[in-house]
Amino acid sequence: MKAKYDFSKGERGKFYNPKAVFDIPNSERKDVGPKMRLNNKIAIVTGAGRGIGKAVALRFAEEGAKIIVDDVNDTNGTETVAAITNVGGEAMFVNADVSNAADAEGLISEAVDAYGTVDILVNNAICSTADVLNNNWEANLAVALRGTSHCSDTVIPVMQNGGGGSIINIASVNGLIGLQGIHAYSAAKGGVIALTRSMAVAHGKDNIRVNCICPGTIQTEVWEPMLERNPQILDEITPWYPLGRIGQPVDIANAALFLASDEASFATGAVFVIDGGLTAGNHQFPI
Ligand SMILES: NC(=O)c1ccc[n+]([C@@H]2O[C@H](COP(=O)([O-])OP(=O)(O)OC[C@H]3O[C@@H](n4cnc5c(N)ncnc54)[C@H](O)[C@@H]3O)[C@@H](O)[C@H]2O)c1
Repeated sequence: MKAKYDFSKGERGKFYNPKAVFDIPNSERKDVGPKMRLNNKIAIVTGAGRGIGKAVALRFAEEGAKIIVDDVNDTNGTETVAAITNVGGEAMFVNADVSNAADAEGLISEAVDAYGTVDILVNNAICSTADVLNNNWEANLAVALRGTSHCSDTVIPVMQNGGGGSIINIASVNGLIGLQGIHAYSAAKGGVIALTRSMAVAHGKDNIRVNCICPGTIQTEVWEPMLERNPQILDEITPWYPLGRIGQPVDIANAALFLASDEASFATGAVFVIDGGLTAGNHQFPI
């Protein structure tokens, strides 16, 4: 059977769309390069007062995005905004508890009032470490899972009006493999993975991409209460990691940057495991 297209002669299949790959929103092509992948994009990051959320906010701002920093901690949220504006970026702080649907709606409204649209949403917020360790089902489900759905459901019509967008959910390796004891957190993160896929299927037609990242252990303040109980905990779990180290917040920020950017224009419903090899398996066969 004769092939429909002769690629050697430069012919393209009907699904080839150069604009999907190269349509960087900068008509004069100024500042476009490795450092401006999110030029003038509007990005909301929940739980961005510290840890991974803060690193994502800073990394996105570095690449030209305008950031709506959400957190329930005013001091930390304001500090993230200052860290961005002090180096010439643009950001604003909104105190919204994502577990509350009205707060989530307020968060998206404030972003739209300020910038007219939202291009990127990163659902990153998580309840306190104490609630995770104590298997507080209500808190884990309310912040990680319902918080993600509240913000996503509210931002979808905004992204539909804007012609598309990228939603990035921060899940966890706990949603993929059993790790001792923290059932409520693990179940919430498994739910985030399922929600990611469900929303990706529903909104591909809107050019809205929905992906999630499953980080392994990342060195953030979230570990402080556990370090108080066992100061060696991070050293003890490092050998689980084939790469021989635990992760840093920027490792996740870089993955989120890829998913937010046009470089990921064919990625949706995907589960990006950024875990130093933890879930690949960590047992050496004794031969
Ligand atoms: N650190 C890790 O080892 C690790 C591993 C896997 C996955 N993750 C995931 O990465 C994300 C960030 O983790 P982290 O270590 O940076 O956590 P973190 O506790 O340092 O940061 C979470 C932030 O969310 C804020 N927050 C809490 N409740 C909120 C609410 N209701 N509404 C809005 N903001 C709220 C907190 O004030 C805090 O600033 C979480 O989703 C977490 O499950 C972290």
